[in-house]
Amino acid sequence: MKTRGRGRGAQQNEGMGLALKRVARVIGHFVSDGLLDLKYCGAFLGGSVRPSPKAPGAFATESTYYSVLAHIFRTVPLGKGDILVDVGCGKGRVLLWAVRHGYQNKMIGIEVNERIAAGTRRRMSSHPNMEIRTLDIRQYLPKEGSYFYLYNPFEREVVAAFKKRLMQVRGERTTTIVYYNPQYIDLFLGDPHWEVTVQRLPLPFLEDMRLAVIRSR
Ligand SMILES: C[S@@+](CC[C@H](N)C(=O)[O-])C[C@H]1O[C@@H](n2cnc3c(N)ncnc32)[C@H](O)[C@@H]1O
Repeated sequence: MKTRGRGRGAQQNEGMGLALKRVARVIGHFVSDGLLDLKYCGAFLGGSVRPSPKAPGAFATESTYYSVLAHIFRTVPLGKGDILVDVGCGKGRVLLWAVRHGYQNKMIGIEVNERIAAGTRRRMSSHPNMEIRTLDIRQYLPKEGSYFYLYNPFEREVVAAFKKRLMQVRGERTTTIVYYNPQYIDLFLGDPHWEVTVQRLPLPFLEDMRLAVIRSR
């Protein structure tokens, strides 16, 4: 009995430890990322906004942490000729990161939530190479894109629709998809058109998050 009691206590401590770790992670990023947002564009891009009811299958708007972006673009660098498309660009942090790190090519953010898209367009208006389009990815995908970024933006059906549309528009061009927190990566695994690698993020407090890199064959 005593042993079982201690086991429960240890489990509770472990659960508490994990919860505290999560809180520390959120607070840490809230502060450090918020300061970078202010420096880069004069506005806070963090927080969470509930999905638009007009967009079936959409998940909430949340911005990728800067430390994650640094890791992703170090691991999968943008090529000289790449056209970056942020599929579900939200408040625009990904595009902002790219432009602030010297990326001068055209880049496109697609966002279905009209209010979020309008705010992002306004905030990014000083960057002529950045275009924010208020559209649903199920209806529209820019042909010129070669590097697609997704931060778990939507449900399985929309990922399937995105994948199908990409196959139609990409032609013979080499295409890279970076899918962060890839909840529906199974849709790409085993598909002969795509080569998939999945890794856990080697970042403190974020080891439970996964990153998929999907390249056209
Ligand atoms: C998790 S946020 C990611 C924001 C940004 N990419 C980032 O990483 O900082 C996902 C965004 O995808 C948008 N989204 C969801 N479904 C969409 C769709 N069908 N077409 C375009 N955008 C969509 C949501 O409105 C939300 O803003």
